[in-house]
This record gives sequence, C-alpha cells and structure tokens, in this order.
Amino acid sequence: MAPGRISLDECGYKKGVPSLTDLPAWTALNAHAPAVQRLHLRDLFAEDKKRGARLVAEGAGIYLDYSKNRVTDVTLALLHRLAEESGLRAEIEKMFTGEKINTTEGRAVLHTALRAKKDAEIFVDGVNVVPGVHKVLDQMADFCDKVRAGVWRGHSGKPIRAIVNIGIGGSDLGPVMAFEALRPYSLRNLTFRFVSNVDGTDFVEATHDLEPDSTLFVVSSKTFTTLETMTNALSARAWVLAKLKDEDAIKRHFVAVSTNEVKVREFGIDPANMFGFWDWVGGRYSMDSSIGLSTMLAIGPADFRKMLEGFREMDEHFRTAPFEQNLPVLMGLLSIWNSNFLGAHTSAVLPYEQYLKRFPAYLQQLTMESNGKRVTKSGAVVSYMTGPIYWGEPGTNGQHSFYQLIHQGTRLIPCDFILFLQSLNPLGRHHDILAANAIAQAEALAFGKTAEEVRRSGEKEDLVPHKTFEGNRPSNTILVDKLTPRTLGKLIALYEHIVFTQGAIWQIDSFDQWGVELGKKLAMRILDEFEGKPNGGAPHDSSTATLMNRYRKGSADLR
Ligand code: F6P
Repeated sequence: MAPGRISLDECGYKKGVPSLTDLPAWTALNAHAPAVQRLHLRDLFAEDKKRGARLVAEGAGIYLDYSKNRVTDVTLALLHRLAEESGLRAEIEKMFTGEKINTTEGRAVLHTALRAKKDAEIFVDGVNVVPGVHKVLDQMADFCDKVRAGVWRGHSGKPIRAIVNIGIGGSDLGPVMAFEALRPYSLRNLTFRFVSNVDGTDFVEATHDLEPDSTLFVVSSKTFTTLETMTNALSARAWVLAKLKDEDAIKRHFVAVSTNEVKVREFGIDPANMFGFWDWVGGRYSMDSSIGLSTMLAIGPADFRKMLEGFREMDEHFRTAPFEQNLPVLMGLLSIWNSNFLGAHTSAVLPYEQYLKRFPAYLQQLTMESNGKRVTKSGAVVSYMTGPIYWGEPGTNGQHSFYQLIHQGTRLIPCDFILFLQSLNPLGRHHDILAANAIAQAEALAFGKTAEEVRRSGEKEDLVPHKTFEGNRPSNTILVDKLTPRTLGKLIALYEHIVFTQGAIWQIDSFDQWGVELGKKLAMRILDEFEGKPNGGAPHDSSTATLMNRYRKGSADLR
C-alpha cells in the first residue's frame, strides 16, 4: 500500500446501525478523510502509473474517468460499503418497482416507467402503468406527425409554423434544454420558442415576430394551476383572440400537457388535445413524458423514441451494474465524498458541447430541487451537508470567465467535464481545439503548477505565488461518442440516478419540493394587497412593508 494510505481495518470499520452518521462506513470515512486530505493527486498518480486507466468505468456506452478525484482504493471501498450499508440496492429496486418512495407526498417515483418497453409490467396500486405510457406516446406521435406534415392547421386554415411551449420549472427547463441539445435533429422550418417567466417581457419577446394564425401554443403544466404558466397562457389566449376573434380558434391553437383535465377543459382546450401524465412523474423528471411534446414536435416521434431508448439503457445499467462499475452510483458516491468529507459546497458541470448550453440550468432544478433538503425522510434535521449547488456553462466560454476561481480560488469545486468524440458541426480544427481544452482543464486542475516549476520557467520571484497552481482539484471526465437523441437520454438518466444515489444515502426525500411553497403563498398575499383585495393576515415586517409601499408609490408615479 502506498505511503500515507490507511487500510480498511485501521480506519475502524464495523458492521452497524442504519442512521447515516452512525453507519460504520460513514464513521470509517470520517476517520479516513484526514489522511486523504493530506494526499495530492500528483502523488497518487506518481505512485500508481495505471491510475488513469484503472479508475474508469463504462456503462451504456458512456466512458467515465474518475481517476482525478482525491480518493484512494480505501476511500472507494468505504464509499461502496456506505452504499451497501445504506441499502442503496434495495432503494433502487423500490423506485423501479413503483413503491411509494416519495413518502411526504405518498407517491411512487416512476420516471423510469416513461421509457419502459411496451411489454414491461410496472404496477402502481395494482395497475400496470406501462400501457398508459405507450398510449400517450402514440397519441403524441400522431399529433406531432400531423403538425410536422402541415396536416394540423390553424383556425384560418394555415399550417403551423411556430410552436410556443408555455411552462416553468420542469415544464420548461427539460423541453428547452432538449430542444437546444437536439436542434440539429429538429425540423428547421418550424420555429420553437419557450415562455416561462411571468415577466411579460418573456411572452412579448417570444411572440413579437410570430403570427397567431400559424402559431401553436403547448401549455405545459402538471397541475395546470401554476401562476406563471397560467398567466402566460391567458396572455397567449388574448393574443390569439385579438387576431382571430373567435373562441373556436382556441381549439386549433392550444394544446395542453397536464395531469389536470378539469382545469384544461376550463381553459377551453379540447380534452382530445390534452396529453396526460401521472402523479408518479415529478416535474423535474418529466421531460421524457408528454412534457416532451415540444421536443417530439421538433425532432419527430422516431428520434424521440431513440431518446427514450437511451434513457432506458442507462436505467438498466443503474439497476444492474455492480456498484464498482456503476456510473451513477460512482458519481453519486464521489460527490458525497467531495461534499461531506472534503468540504465542497458546489459542483460545476462543464459540457464541451455548445448544444448543451442549457444542460447546467436543467441540472440545477434536477439536483437542487431534489436534494436541497435539511431533514431526513423521518423528519430529523440532518447533521451533514446535503445537495451541493450545481452550476456551469459550456466550455470553452467558462474558461474565460469563472475558471480562474476554480483553479486558484480558495474553494474546492469538483467539476464534471463532458466531452463528445465527434462534433455535429465539423469545422477545420475546431473540435480538436475544443477537446484539447477540456482535457487540459482537468489536467491543470489535478496537477497544477508548483512554485518550483514556476521558478524553473524563469519567473520573477514576486510573481511566483501568483503563477503557482496548487492543483489537487477533483474532476470527472465523461466521454460520449456523439450528441444524439439516444446519448442525450443516457446523459440525463445518468444525472437523474446520481441524484437518486445521493438522496438515498443522505436519507432524504429527493422527490418532494415543499421549499417552493412559502414564497408562492406570500407572493399571492402581496399581489392581493397590490390589487386592493382584503387580506386578513398579520401585518408585514417593516422591510417588506416599506418595499411594498415604495413599489406601489414608485410604479404609480411612473405610470
Ligand atoms: O415550483 C416548483 C414546481 O412545482 C416544480 O417542481 C415544477 O416543475 C414547476 O413548479 C412547474 O409545475 P407545473 O408543471 O405544475 O406547472
């Protein structure tokens, strides 16, 4: 064993009890962490010449190099024990088999059923949900074919030229991310826009160059009650009616994606043009359900199904691969190591692929709405950090803005580099330059540049500290052949299951989102007051009251 490393037996591992911090593997990781904190990736690589080829895994056609993490073989063994002691395997099975693991909402968590094969059987409350999934997929395909072929016409007989998805959160971020990612596979003679923000600017800018008689609105909302979405949908309705002047036009220019048929009818949308889904699909896990209608309109049913196959391949890998070779499990465990034992607070996702420009934003909801929790499933306040802050930008743009802090700042920021072997737009040397940058960044973060190396390069002594790179900054590198509908599905499922792994180990409910409720309620109360409606509530604090008065008076003066 390399110097500075400690063995499993030395670090006090004992078989034990089920609360996270009492688990023997957790205790052992705590004991083990100081020794690893003293190690440098330079030494780990020097001691083991094969490390870069050894600490890798491949699943569903995705290659993961995790060798540039600050781990030893003991760390990895302990992390795998943590997964075993946390009952991760059983938790995964509970999800795949439809157990109600979203305990605070009493719901199953079955986004994996959205991509199940037609002949699969997955039961919720005794009912096989798979036939329903495929029925909706067929309904979507039929509709998308008609719109794409110009058979579905607007109220005045014109074919549809523009699709506007109205939704927010999971009903927007997935669709817009997938549209941007799969743009080269999309029907280029259709225009796609996405409206999410209740700021009127979003709607006005999205529609300013569109014609109501050739525009189709997809109102996407699981609940069909979300304030932002319904406000935008009503503005869209008024925009269409201002030109077409006939309520019947709504049926040709609006379709709905929702679980709430009553509200869809109330809006005036023909329920025949409503695409359903189920309460066991969380908003942030819904982009491959009918919430993906705009995606299917863009890329067509065949490519949408290929995307689902990609999801399914990663699902199968997650469910069946041994933890040592299991990409989501490995990445989930490494993020726990980085957060809980090395003190990282954030995690950067850095796709070296321009088409993935909205992927980090999509991941923010997926990861942070899921794992931004401070109590366990049983309601106990946790004594350890949970969900890190996820953020990122496509490379190489990020390199010229925030990478300085990742390289030389005082914080530890684990990075995921995502690189494709083949460009969708081969252009001279561009892709090799892009790839060289991605690989170089991970190398620079890990190994840095010592003061001695800086001196040797002839630098003036007073600049040596400024030009020294400490290194020892962890990263994963993910290699994928090419961005396609199928590989996009795999990548999304990879992160869905990383989130699952983290949440299962932290013992939190990754599938509720109570933290968004309070702000929504208070906004409604303030809005009522702005609109002069009585509100029986207690007076506001002095800051809130002053801000409200200032806004009311200031905006009235400017009107
Ligand atoms: O506010 C949070 C949230 O509930 C998300 O979880 C969800 O994706 C989003 O709002 C939109 O909800 P809906 O699809 O019901 O409009």
